[in-house]
Amino acid sequence: MSPNIIASLVPPTPEALAAAGRILAQGGLVAFPTETVYGLGGDATNDRAVAAIFEAKGRPSFNPLIAHVASVEQAAGLVAMTPLACDLARRFWPGPLTLVLPRLENSPVSLLVSAGLDSVAVRLPDHPVARALIQAAGRPLAAPSANRSGAVSPTTAAHVAESLSDRIDLILDGGPCRVGVESTVLDLCGPRPTLLRPGGIGVEDLEAALGQSLLRSTDAPDAPRSPGQLESHYAPTLPVRLNAMTRSDGEVLLGFGPMACTLNLSPDGDLAEAAANLFASLRALDRPGLTGIAVAPIPEHGLGLAINDRLCRAAAPRSGA
Ligand code: TXA
Ligand code: MG
Repeated sequence: MSPNIIASLVPPTPEALAAAGRILAQGGLVAFPTETVYGLGGDATNDRAVAAIFEAKGRPSFNPLIAHVASVEQAAGLVAMTPLACDLARRFWPGPLTLVLPRLENSPVSLLVSAGLDSVAVRLPDHPVARALIQAAGRPLAAPSANRSGAVSPTTAAHVAESLSDRIDLILDGGPCRVGVESTVLDLCGPRPTLLRPGGIGVEDLEAALGQSLLRSTDAPDAPRSPGQLESHYAPTLPVRLNAMTRSDGEVLLGFGPMACTLNLSPDGDLAEAAANLFASLRALDRPGLTGIAVAPIPEHGLGLAINDRLCRAAAPRSGA
């Protein structure tokens, strides 16, 4: 590693947070820990900062970003916090739930964050460093996962440094992320709450709180969907093969539950542990000289929905980029 990579990775001391807040207020970019994955943060109200995020990630600009806030009141200054949104915020914030809501007419959020939609996704993260940073910046932070677009998401500061350190001003190192998969994205703009992305809050928990089943963006052709849910995503360099119980020649096997394998997401079959280990394991197994990563079946409930969503995209045909 070159010395400037080490220099840009700092522990989140009060001084570092104050410096990071100043960088953000001036339009710079700071990577920071959340409970889900590391985010690449910029001032959500500054067009140039938001454009710099898209550029650093190599992300298509039609894929909107999440505005991260430090309080429900701050969210209410950006979007229409409907009674249902307030209810869900009370139950699940701070936490890995992102709510897509109508933009306020006078919303200070850059139009680039919405990528042409009349909605904004908001989230109050459950990580003290994330909230302290938003407060230090004094503005909402647009923050996608801090990786190059389409690649495996970062769950440690070192992952961020590997792919983005030459494109950002500072990386706050808050240790490994507790949840390990991104937030659940729920669209509340239409007549029925619609799941746009499974994530760190289980669908069962949301449905229990709402007292109704969620519409899925795959349920109906006219159901809301995230423009950013591109098929190939979260992809390591090696091809990924799903639902494997054994490995073929040249492959490594990523296991789940008691089994013989190269690396195990959770030998006890614990989905929360598996989610926390998912992205770091894909990175660790993505080594030259191998032919592919085979992955054991993961149960399709609770956090398993988010894990399988990420694995299916990691295994999807690559668009060539
Ligand atoms: O856990 C997370 O959500 C992480 C951490 C850093 O907070 N962030 C994250 O951001 O995963 P990103 O940009 O990688 O994913 C945001 C997702 C995308 O699928 C995007 O299309 C969707 O949210 N999204 C954002 N704004 C939207 C909107 N207005 N309407 C529909 N979908 C939206
Ligand atoms: Mg991402």
